[in-house]
Amino acid sequence: MRTIAVVNQKGGCGKTTVSINLASALAARGLRTLLVDMDPQGHCAVGLAVPEEQIEQSIYDVMVGESCGEPLRISEMVWKICDNYDLAPGSIDLAAFEQQMAGVEDREECLKRALSEVAGDYDYAVIDCPPSVGSLTFNAIKASSDVIVPVDTGYFSLHGLSKQLSTLSVLSQQCDNEINVMVLASMYDVRTKMGREILGELKKHFGDKMFKTVVNFNTKLKEAASLGQPISEYDPASKGCKDFNALADELVSTDSRAERAEMVESLQAKLDAISASADELLATAGVTETSTASATATMDEKLADFYGVRKLDDAVVFVSLYPRAEEVQIAGDFNGWQPEKTPMQKGEDGTWHVKLPLAAGRYRYRMVVDGQWQQDPYNEITEMNPFGECNSVVEVH
Ligand SMILES: Nc1ncnc2c1ncn2[C@@H]1O[C@H](COP(=O)(O)OP(=O)(O)OP(=O)(O)O)[C@@H](O)[C@H]1O
Ligand SMILES: [Mg+2]
Repeated sequence: MRTIAVVNQKGGCGKTTVSINLASALAARGLRTLLVDMDPQGHCAVGLAVPEEQIEQSIYDVMVGESCGEPLRISEMVWKICDNYDLAPGSIDLAAFEQQMAGVEDREECLKRALSEVAGDYDYAVIDCPPSVGSLTFNAIKASSDVIVPVDTGYFSLHGLSKQLSTLSVLSQQCDNEINVMVLASMYDVRTKMGREILGELKKHFGDKMFKTVVNFNTKLKEAASLGQPISEYDPASKGCKDFNALADELVSTDSRAERAEMVESLQAKLDAISASADELLATAGVTETSTASATATMDEKLADFYGVRKLDDAVVFVSLYPRAEEVQIAGDFNGWQPEKTPMQKGEDGTWHVKLPLAAGRYRYRMVVDGQWQQDPYNEITEMNPFGECNSVVEVH
């Protein structure tokens, strides 16, 4: 069994979409495929129409079962999605995994042990990770031979990429398995000049550490997820479906043992190389950006100039970039978590902003983009909420 973790600490970059549809394309090739949802948000079940209220046991129960004296095998809890395609669902309990297992020896090997028991039942396992680098992601990496890092090809997506890859590299120092890490360009919009430039730079810098296949932005993928279907079922003729078929073919083509032995370096070496490339890329990409910021400013500084949260006079200004959104609101402590009370105003080039007169204090909030709740992509200060999702946090002094 070849095990592939889909990892990126950034929320909303397409991890779940890639996991669900790559697994589906592998299954369609006659390969027995298991999808494992390690995200407390449980989006794989939602995206595959598995009724949440009927999920009695999740991958959490498998991972903690042994330590509680109630062992559970993956084969006893999977849901059959279609021929060759099984789902080991996640659940909100996963949010408590880190705390629950604190002090337990080998707590980062739980998933690896569980998967080894079903290694003969499947050809591929795809693991959808949460948007954070913690114990759950570490469990996934330790169980894997391959890591796919989906990178959304929007301007901001590059921000923090190098930092994230370095974090992964630090984690990998504690791994003894060898892992092949590949970057996958996702949500690529060929119609935007910025998208084309960023993809060009990614290709130039990441070279053979990047999949040749690119996952295009395709609204059919969004529709398929909201109806609980993989794209191969919802619209087999769509561009989205073609992209995932190509990705599965490319992945399978690197599965010959001899070829892989050559490709595989230590995870750390690979991540260090990618991380250095990301830094270089940030520097180059900064030159192409025609903003009003000074030419010497780094891309990070420029971004901070435009997007994020900052204090202005006696108010706090939130600025974000959602070029494809029709409605953006903010919900937080300051408005009783009622997004309709705080709509953001649309500016030029897909920016959205709102100015709020907030008194000194610590506030938690989330952006609501066309009805979807998500963390503020331009604010790195977050904390986990009771639903296992990330709230953004702002302190006003
Ligand atoms: N290629 C694509 N084309 C169009 N929409 C996409 C594409 N990929 C993802 N999306 C949409 O973008 C949103 C975020 O995608 P997704 O849930 O896959 O991201 P994620 O990285 O798993 O998020 P999280 O970090 O919260 O788990 C979803 O609404 C999804 O339908
Ligand atoms: Mg997800």
